[in-house]
Amino acid sequence: SFWKEVGGINQLEMAAAHRLAVRQVVIVPGDADESDWVKDDLARQAAQELIRLLDDDKIVAVAGGSTMARVARHVQPTHTENVILVPARGALGEEVELESNTVTAQMARNLGASYRLLYLPDIIQQETLQNVQRDPVISDVLDLIHRASILVHGIGAAEEMARRRGLDEEIVRILKERKAVSEVFGYYFNGPGEMVYRMNTVGMRMENVNKLDTVLAIAGGKSKAKAILSYIRKRSNYLLVTDEAAAREMFILL
Ligand code: BG6
Repeated sequence: SFWKEVGGINQLEMAAAHRLAVRQVVIVPGDADESDWVKDDLARQAAQELIRLLDDDKIVAVAGGSTMARVARHVQPTHTENVILVPARGALGEEVELESNTVTAQMARNLGASYRLLYLPDIIQQETLQNVQRDPVISDVLDLIHRASILVHGIGAAEEMARRRGLDEEIVRILKERKAVSEVFGYYFNGPGEMVYRMNTVGMRMENVNKLDTVLAIAGGKSKAKAILSYIRKRSNYLLVTDEAAAREMFILL
């Protein structure tokens, strides 16, 4: 677009994809930290990218969060009647509006796609979790999640996500000690991108993420640059939708 040419954003996109070693980076102008308008732009752009990735018979795993909730509002009906949306993982202690179940349902409705949800409590004992996975309704959804070829998620700053999810002090201490920087659907990573902690729930496993056809990650705002950088480097099946402020800050940090 005109603005992209003027701002040199096209060059920034290519340079970012190269430096981060991901498949593609799409950048919207501005800083999502500063304006709601940029947040919406980010979500609108991500919605477009997602629609472009959809084909019949695709299973899409969807994570929660405020960015994803916005993306869900911006998707529009497509011709893909056989697309099924599922939440990426079980509940992680997020507010209902931001839970992956809620985001999945809203996104599916706006896309005209079908969806299946995972009904699991946030806090669940390991043994209960194992039993619950044998429940036929839950195991059906888990099966769909494991067959997903597309994953869509946000990226959070570790400290903020731990606070938002009300993790207990002991876990917050562990995260600090292990220098967690980023968070993605219940997994926490340090600066060099090593997984340092994971929350106890079922669904998409980090080990399987690099086997997916395409992962779409959406995160913007200068304040998220460190987190995005920590998580996304060298993830070659990733398409990152971010904003100019986060992208420029990442270049400074690199
Ligand atoms: C969570 C997602 O719900 O939202 C994570 O599971 C992500 O993938 C986080 O880290 C980001 O949240 P937000 O509100 O900053 O988009």
